[in-house]
Amino acid sequence: MSHHGRHPEVLIVDDDRHIRTVLDEVFRASGYTCQMATNGQEGLATFDAERPPLTVTDMNMPVMGGLDFLKHARALEPDAAILVLTGMADVETAVESLKHGAYDFIMKPVNVDKLLIAAERALERRQLHLERRESRALLERRVAEATRDLAATLRELEETYRSTLEALGSAIDTRDLGTQAHSRRVRGYSLTIARAYGVPEADMRDLEHGVLLHDIGKIGIPDGILLKPGPLTPAEWKIMRSHPAAGRQIVEQIPFLRGAVPVVYHHHERWDGTGYPLGLKGEAIPLAARIFAVADAFDAMTFDRPYSRAIPLAAARAEIQRCAGSHFDPTAVETFAALPLEIFEEIRRQSIA
Ligand SMILES: [Fe+2]
Repeated sequence: MSHHGRHPEVLIVDDDRHIRTVLDEVFRASGYTCQMATNGQEGLATFDAERPPLTVTDMNMPVMGGLDFLKHARALEPDAAILVLTGMADVETAVESLKHGAYDFIMKPVNVDKLLIAAERALERRQLHLERRESRALLERRVAEATRDLAATLRELEETYRSTLEALGSAIDTRDLGTQAHSRRVRGYSLTIARAYGVPEADMRDLEHGVLLHDIGKIGIPDGILLKPGPLTPAEWKIMRSHPAAGRQIVEQIPFLRGAVPVVYHHHERWDGTGYPLGLKGEAIPLAARIFAVADAFDAMTFDRPYSRAIPLAAARAEIQRCAGSHFDPTAVETFAALPLEIFEEIRRQSIA
């Protein structure tokens, strides 16, 4: 018969045995397979089990009427094609059933041709709804997939940025200190202190970039000054002290790295205002730079440098505590000192060049 498949199933819900029999014969003659129910409740049980593409239901039935059956069936399956049989006098019920999602209503006494045409139309409409729903689901799946791919690409890109910055940080260290692991260790220390301080996770990336790039301005300092073994002359000091401003100029031109400016520009400020380049005091110094200062000093003291021998971690911590309020932000120092030294030892172990 139709393009809906050879034997579409129809569920007939009616308490009148005679009508059931007639409808059964009519639908069978047109190639349908039929299921029967004698009231809404029975009909709902069959509907739930069989999910027939088409249902024809009477309105006035004992136990559960057609309107309640309609509501429940549509809740189970929003695309259920349901035709309603109504008496001549029952136009209001017919309209009500349409409001609740009936596809059409058939007046009793039933005109067989009209019924079959309505059935055919209902099945077509249902098919259309199903296809639309399916293509929407497909579209949503594609969007979800594309979003996933994009997120993966972004993650990869960020990973690439990160390793590039790490390499750059290491290159800066190597020229200055003869070691590559300094910036990686200070990154670990800074992030650990910042977390304990309560710095939001969203700010960690900027802090990390700032730490890795803090001395990038030293690119502009001649080797004769940067690597000079003896004390610097006042003129040389002036050049040396220009590296935060030089670094800021480099970093602020790159939108992705702009968040690193506070550390790059202010990493030599001191809590009491005796630092450079601006001599900022207390909380006027960006928090990231105050945290970095503690982490950087801790690392400087606990590793051999050309001009100083390493001291034990506990001694370095005590020295930093001694300088809280003068060189360092007292709250940052307090946060740092409350952390067990094992955490920092672990970061040292993991940062070996
Ligand atoms: Fe510096």
